Amino acid sequence: MNTNIVWHKSLVTRLDREKLNSHKSFVLWFTGLSGSGKSTLAHEVEKRLHSSGCRTFVLDGDNIRHGLSANLSFTDTDRKENIRRIGEAAKLMVEAGVIALTAFISPFRADREMVRGLLPHGEFIEVFCDASLDVCERRDVKGLYKKARAGDIKNYTGIS
Ligand code: ADX
Repeated sequence: MNTNIVWHKSLVTRLDREKLNSHKSFVLWFTGLSGSGKSTLAHEVEKRLHSSGCRTFVLDGDNIRHGLSANLSFTDTDRKENIRRIGEAAKLMVEAGVIALTAFISPFRADREMVRGLLPHGEFIEVFCDASLDVCERRDVKGLYKKARAGDIKNYTGIS
């Protein structure tokens, strides 16, 4: 990190924002195979929280890979960097007083632990969407498991 960069303190604190919102902010981190229901659940939970007056935002794997992580592939190194970026984005949202819900495969425990470490204790809540590979593959919503089995996609989580 550049040592000539100095942190600028905000005049409005996270606590001030939480007070204005009348709720705490935190991260709900959905993890699991592609097709295990992470996005569906994250969006459904967001809808319910929003209905009860909470400020929320969903960071979704496929969407983020169109923008913030558009330059990343699915190698181990790039997945690590993907999760690091999402972790930092989720942390900013928590500072902004928002409940951040994330839906990424996030296959490596070490990377999820790294994100947990970015946040105060208890504010990173991990939700494992425990659907078997067999079930996810049968769903194959995007047809990607089929492509992965055919060898058309490399490094597909659960397949290669
Ligand atoms: S992560 O491993 O870096 O957390 P992320 O959640 O962003 O993955 O992206 C996963 C989504 O990208 C999958 O749901 C799938 O639609 C798509 N995808 C494309 N290629 C791959 C691949 N090789 N492995 C897994 N998912 C892939």
